[in-house]
Amino acid sequence: MIQKEKFELTASTLFGLENVLAEELKILGAEGIEIQNRAVKFMADNELLYKSNIHLRTALRILKPIARFKARDQYALYKNIKRIKWEEYLNLHHTFLIKPVVFSPHFRHSKFAAQKTKDAIVDRFREHFNKRPSVELENPDIVFNLHIAGDNVTVSLDSSGAPLNQRGYRKSGGDAPLNEVLAAGMIKLSAWDTKSTFIDPMCGSGTLLIEAGLMALNIPPNLNRKEFPLMNWQDFDTKLWKEIITEAKTNILSAEQVKVKIIGSDINLQQLEITQKNIQKAGITKLIKLRNKSFKEFVVPASKGKIIFNPPYGQRLRLKQIEEFYSEIGNILKNKWTGFDAWILSCNEFANKSFGLKPAKKIKLFNGQLDCRFLNFPLFEGSRKDFLEEKNNIE
Ligand SMILES: C[S@@+](CC[C@H](N)C(=O)[O-])C[C@H]1O[C@@H](n2cnc3c(N)ncnc32)[C@H](O)[C@@H]1O
Repeated sequence: MIQKEKFELTASTLFGLENVLAEELKILGAEGIEIQNRAVKFMADNELLYKSNIHLRTALRILKPIARFKARDQYALYKNIKRIKWEEYLNLHHTFLIKPVVFSPHFRHSKFAAQKTKDAIVDRFREHFNKRPSVELENPDIVFNLHIAGDNVTVSLDSSGAPLNQRGYRKSGGDAPLNEVLAAGMIKLSAWDTKSTFIDPMCGSGTLLIEAGLMALNIPPNLNRKEFPLMNWQDFDTKLWKEIITEAKTNILSAEQVKVKIIGSDINLQQLEITQKNIQKAGITKLIKLRNKSFKEFVVPASKGKIIFNPPYGQRLRLKQIEEFYSEIGNILKNKWTGFDAWILSCNEFANKSFGLKPAKKIKLFNGQLDCRFLNFPLFEGSRKDFLEEKNNIE
């Protein structure tokens, strides 16, 4: 039997999603999983590398480290970079780009570190071949990631290029659309089973609805992306890639097969017209129903399920208005949504108490730069105390 070569990979993600990403990797068959800050390290072969790029819902990019060394100044950086056998990863016809991520007192400007790295690569090529490959900012063939933390330098091949949250379905945004990876992570953190009713009553551009729909139909989020830098690697296995795509397509379910209710609503009709286009682009129109109702008027369509949303967080509203709005949301949940498991991403810490409900879980997440809490309110009959007692008796 041919032994497939295993190598280390790092999948990067958003703060708070490391565990759900590790779970996704486990399901894909990854070994040696190690959770890090905003990243998960694992061992893989080419098959898992390709699957990670196509299937993972909570990864931003997949990196393959090729060198690690220490450097405290530009000279050490240049010398060590020049030692790497770049000709194994890059040829004279390739264009390339270095993406720097630097947290170091020794290198204060990430662009400068990237520049020195580029100089060392180009000088090595000139010395060996009298010619050099060119840098390309927009659509490079090969992408390198330069990570410097303190004096620890890691150089990796970036297999994904454009971040994996860019699924290609969102042609137009809306009022503060969620990052697709964050939305998928929120759904995973809520432990939605992909079968029970799923509601986003303030759906905006529809990110949560679309991510839920893709999960329900078993559609890999990046199945339709045509370009990944890994396709330009010297060892790219076209046959294996095609087999993985074909297999993924075979496993997709139809809307008729799954029968799950996924419903979105928004008070803003113009927004919903854009949302409908996004849903169409994602190819899941049959699965998702949209309504143009305020949260107050929305008629609860089932006796149980998940309701997940991120209400406006008050950049345009004053704190007083936000408190009133959040208090109204809390009252509506208590009075109309009994039986549902509610999750709210709230990015206004001052107003969180206004919901008037005690969260069973509070998970720290970032929506862009905003420090948020993902709050869970299980809306079961009776008091929360009864609910917890009943749950303890069952388990
Ligand atoms: C922060 S955005 C949601 C973004 C969305 N998750 C996305 O990814 O695009 C909040 C949305 O709530 C809607 N909204 C505000 N007040 C509402 C209300 N009372 N009822 C229903 N929708 C409301 C806004 O029109 C806006 O689209």
